[in-house]
Amino acid sequence: MHLTALRLRDFRNYARLDASFAPGLHLFLGRNAQGKTNLLEAIYLLATLRSFRGAGHADLVRFGQSAYQVAAQIVSDVPHEVRIYWSSQQRQLLLDGQPIRRLVDYLGTFRVTIFCSEDLNLIKGSARFRRRFLDLVLSQTQPDYLAWWQRYTRALRARNALLKQTLLDLTALEAFTTEMVTAGRILSERRKQLVPRLGTLAQQAYDRLAKGREAVLFRYVSTSTGDLNVDLQKLRLRELTRKTTLAGPHLDDLEILLNDQPAATFASEGQKRSLAIALKMAQAEYLAEVHGTPPVLLIDDVMGELDAERRAAFLPLLHRAYACRGQVFMTATEEGQLREIVPSPLCWRVEAGALHPIRSR
Ligand SMILES: Nc1ncnc2c1ncn2[C@@H]1O[C@H](COP(=O)(O)OP(=O)(O)OP(=O)(O)O)[C@@H](O)[C@H]1O
Ligand SMILES: [Mg+2]
Repeated sequence: MHLTALRLRDFRNYARLDASFAPGLHLFLGRNAQGKTNLLEAIYLLATLRSFRGAGHADLVRFGQSAYQVAAQIVSDVPHEVRIYWSSQQRQLLLDGQPIRRLVDYLGTFRVTIFCSEDLNLIKGSARFRRRFLDLVLSQTQPDYLAWWQRYTRALRARNALLKQTLLDLTALEAFTTEMVTAGRILSERRKQLVPRLGTLAQQAYDRLAKGREAVLFRYVSTSTGDLNVDLQKLRLRELTRKTTLAGPHLDDLEILLNDQPAATFASEGQKRSLAIALKMAQAEYLAEVHGTPPVLLIDDVMGELDAERRAAFLPLLHRAYACRGQVFMTATEEGQLREIVPSPLCWRVEAGALHPIRSR
């Protein structure tokens, strides 16, 4: 799977960009604040329809403009053309010229794994980051997952709205509870199945990164004791006081343990960083395992923070990308420290919202 062409219009600091990319490893080089991360953000957007930096769509529009466009040609089993247009009045997603109305019909067309400084949130941040991570991996691997997630979220919102009303509509509450429980069971089952596999892959990645004998363990922590329906019945009185739903996958967490201790509280900064990277490596390995081809890897600044030994931990992923005619996009302020792990990257200079190929030496 790879991206052969990228077109940006008024996206972040790019007024206009038309670039073609071969399979292989691309290195975006440039000083700070030139637009390197913005490029990865555009590629990530094509895969997930959101910014990995948590930015809203309005923030992606170039200052002073009213709309952005990101378009690409993607080669997976078959080639596809994707176009995203966003303005405050109009949003459009086109796949091969056809408007996509339901996200489920699009997500999965293009798969990426990003490595970036925000990944530390997976270890240090609230449970929301870890739930979102699990949901992303599941929607990248199971075609029906997103539809279940949407059903669950709709029922949950409706249920919470009912709980906030002064006059309780019991019939409606029962109906939305049933719907929430049906979809919720599927979400938690799928997440519970995924977690041990991700844990094993993350342990392997962590061993490569940290070269120690530390044990990595992932545990899915459910707010439900087993039967969500029974739990919600028991919680009914408390829910009426708190006016919100108090159990279900929207409150669950992925617990990350290092040597049997919660990583968020006990791991050192270096260990946390390695764990966050290991989690993303596990995602990439898992996607490759399920689909037979690796996702496109987006690596933002990460290499600069690691010593040579830790950088080498990326080698298996990079080799796999080469072997499958996959693609890697990496940003750095200088090429120096990358030479030992990527001997002949395709280099680009990023300067004030423009991209120039650098002739290979
Ligand atoms: N909506 C926008 N319109 C115009 N410019 C923007 C917009 N959003 C961000 N920028 C600018 O884009 C520039 C480049 O941002 P980017 O994060 O891509 O830099 P970078 O090359 O990755 O730098 P660093 O090496 O510091 O990470 C910044 O100067 C920022 O102010
Ligand atoms: Mg950057």
